[in-house]
Amino acid sequence: MTSTNPVLIILRPNRGDSPREPPGASLLTHPDALSARRPLCSIRGMGRHLPERQLTNADLEKIMDTSDEWIVQRTGIRSRRVLPDDWITSDLAVASAEAALQDAAIDRSEIDLLIVATVTPDHLCPSTACVVQRKLGMAGVPALDISVACSGFGYALSLAAGMIASGLHRNVLVIGAEAMTRFMNYEDRTSSILFGDGAGAVVVSPEGRFDVLYTDNGADGALAEMIEIPGGGAREPASDKTLADRRHFVTLRGREVFKTAVRQMSLSTRQAVEALGLTTDDIDWLIPHQANARIIEAVGENLGLPSEKVVIDIGDKGNTTAASIPIAMTGVYEAGGFLPGQIIVLVGFGAGAAWSCQVVRVRG
Ligand SMILES: CC(C)(COP(=O)(O)OP(=O)(O)OC[C@H]1O[C@@H](n2cnc3c(N)ncnc32)[C@H](O)[C@@H]1OP(=O)(O)O)[C@@H](O)C(=O)NCCC(=O)NCCS
Repeated sequence: MTSTNPVLIILRPNRGDSPREPPGASLLTHPDALSARRPLCSIRGMGRHLPERQLTNADLEKIMDTSDEWIVQRTGIRSRRVLPDDWITSDLAVASAEAALQDAAIDRSEIDLLIVATVTPDHLCPSTACVVQRKLGMAGVPALDISVACSGFGYALSLAAGMIASGLHRNVLVIGAEAMTRFMNYEDRTSSILFGDGAGAVVVSPEGRFDVLYTDNGADGALAEMIEIPGGGAREPASDKTLADRRHFVTLRGREVFKTAVRQMSLSTRQAVEALGLTTDDIDWLIPHQANARIIEAVGENLGLPSEKVVIDIGDKGNTTAASIPIAMTGVYEAGGFLPGQIIVLVGFGAGAAWSCQVVRVRG
């Protein structure tokens, strides 16, 4: 079968000595994507779910040696969401998926692939995606989890784009969902103040309202210990000792993450706009992963972007890992922020270390 699709997809090899080096000419996009008749794929609808319950800085002050002032000044976070006691990650995912399906005005019977990006799955096995598939009543639809932490949504969107561009799948439901508070060590004031729960979802199709023009992902496993949940896997199976040592919670080397995140998200964004023949002036919305308001501000400053173009959505949510980008994007969308023709850059960095960047254009 011959294809008349004009989109050229070159999978970026990214096998250099240092994955953080500029990748040269290898990209996952059409070289002339802005004028290409067909983008890689299009986001047809989006939705999110945020639990109502809040864990405020004042609440944290009662259980650890911290202060509202310190947390706000260092992170921009005032409170974070906490899922109900009888909810699990798949419930958050389902709630966001229902909203996205409704926004996309698509019947769930038309979805032919379901991807859940999460590092806080319902359990190690089976996948959360299979539980979500059952709860959504989508029997038979292939379903898989991907575990790329804060870059999980971008990786999942890339996977959907590749599947759609190849013709293997047509309508893909992509969900980022996290129950981060279930994996917090509230005896560790450095990490536990940062994270919150939530989910965001998009329906990705050949035709939609937000054309995906570019996607690029990278990873550097040499930084694998920078952010981790060390216990509970094959390396440190659950035992009385791993429990006593609190090895089943998120740990991080905050300063190192901070610097690497700023550097990599700035670089990824520059590479993305250059690949499309644009400059950073052409960016209408920068929607970074929401790790820390100061990280996001530093990326915006590096790129010379005015603050009104840089989305900071962390104040009442905290870091929701794979959910943060679709949650922030849906927030702008629901507020009527996106205008026809605008260029949106989604960029993430996190555990792995792994990073991801997409450029999306609002259809006119
Ligand atoms: C974690 C983070 C907020 C810490 O901010 P920071 O400005 O780097 O602060 P430092 O780690 O240098 O700590 C400064 C001091 O504050 C203290 N501190 C740490 N957490 C604190 C808290 N919650 N309340 C009060 N003091 C705290 C430290 O103990 C340290 O004290 P010391 O100087 O007496 O040793 C910041 O590094 C960050 O956001 N990093 C990235 C987060 C991340 O990894 N996200 C996950 C993946 S995207």
